[in-house]
Amino acid sequence: MDNLRVAIVGVGSLAKALVEGVSYYAKNPDEKIGLMHPLIGNYRVNDLKFVAAFDVDRRKVGKKLQDAISLGKNVTREITSPTEHPAVVHRGPTLDGIHEKMRDSFISESNAPVENVVKILKDTNTQVVVNLVPSGSDVATRWYAEAALNAGCSYINCIPTPLVTDSKWRKRFEERDLVLLGDDTKSQMGATMLNRLLLEFLKLRGIRITKSEQKNQGGNADHYNLLHRSKTKESSKREALSKYLDEKDARPSVTFQYTGKPSGHKRVDLLIEGELFGKTPISIHSVIEDEISINGAGTIIDAIRVAQFLVDNSKQSNAKDVCPFLMKSSPKHMSDKEASAMFERIISSK
Ligand SMILES: NC(=O)c1ccc[n+]([C@@H]2O[C@H](COP(=O)([O-])OP(=O)(O)OC[C@H]3O[C@@H](n4cnc5c(N)ncnc54)[C@H](O)[C@@H]3O)[C@@H](O)[C@H]2O)c1
Repeated sequence: MDNLRVAIVGVGSLAKALVEGVSYYAKNPDEKIGLMHPLIGNYRVNDLKFVAAFDVDRRKVGKKLQDAISLGKNVTREITSPTEHPAVVHRGPTLDGIHEKMRDSFISESNAPVENVVKILKDTNTQVVVNLVPSGSDVATRWYAEAALNAGCSYINCIPTPLVTDSKWRKRFEERDLVLLGDDTKSQMGATMLNRLLLEFLKLRGIRITKSEQKNQGGNADHYNLLHRSKTKESSKREALSKYLDEKDARPSVTFQYTGKPSGHKRVDLLIEGELFGKTPISIHSVIEDEISINGAGTIIDAIRVAQFLVDNSKQSNAKDVCPFLMKSSPKHMSDKEASAMFERIISSK
């Protein structure tokens, strides 16, 4: 099998889940449980090889990736001890990566000199760059996208900064025979997904929505960051939900709470109220509890492999078609079922 060379930007909790998850399937090569796609093109999960990483935190810069993922404020349940990967964490440019409220408490900025990101990506023959900087880091997200383009790498924007939804960015990657996927990864089984399914179903049954609330509670750095920089995340989630509603329905509300207890555990409360036959009230309450970073990594392993599959098979123009399955905000709007069918069609065609 081929190795697929990957670089990570932002070695936080999600990177920890991603590296440990890949290590788990490398130690258990016949295990298929937990995978949406054991094989995409020629790539199994254990073909992912992390060859470079970038961060700005002094506790992580200069360390081997497999050690850095357990440092700083990274909290997520351990899947397995990480296997050896060649990646070392390099000092990237900070730009807008550290919100003032995160400085020193969550991210302790390194005073090491910023390294040449494009050169490192080229020297390591990186094929796919995965962007995992904190939500709201719009400048950093575009800066690393530019670096990926200059180094000849595909780019996966896992955060809500609009990139793929901007046709100019898509065109720039396609012109260089590369793939751009984004924006804002769906979890493998996400709250927004369930929320949308419920709304879609209620609309099919002629119900007017009078209230739609999604309350997200968590204790990791991302949740603390979202207290201060939730604008793009909230609108990414709200837009994903609004597509099924009409003007008579209440607008969906999405909020974030930080529990103050360092943990990767997340709880989401969904409350939907509506009116059915005879304007009679109906309500649905659902609770989802999960390990948020691991749930996100379960999708990113597919995004990385499909990006390289599209490049290998000169199918870069299909990048926008695989996004709806993987991402909350994408250029095309379709239901999860349609998005899944489209994804399957693309990965099964050569
Ligand atoms: N299920 C999920 O966890 C999920 C789903 C969708 C999107 N996301 C998004 O993925 C991103 C990563 O999540 P996380 O939980 O790992 O966050 P995190 O806060 O734990 O990690 C972010 C990392 O980025 C680093 N960083 C900050 N500025 C940087 C820069 N300029 N260059 C390089 N590194 C920089 C920080 O030091 C930190 O190590 C967040 O934006 C989150 O919203 C997560």
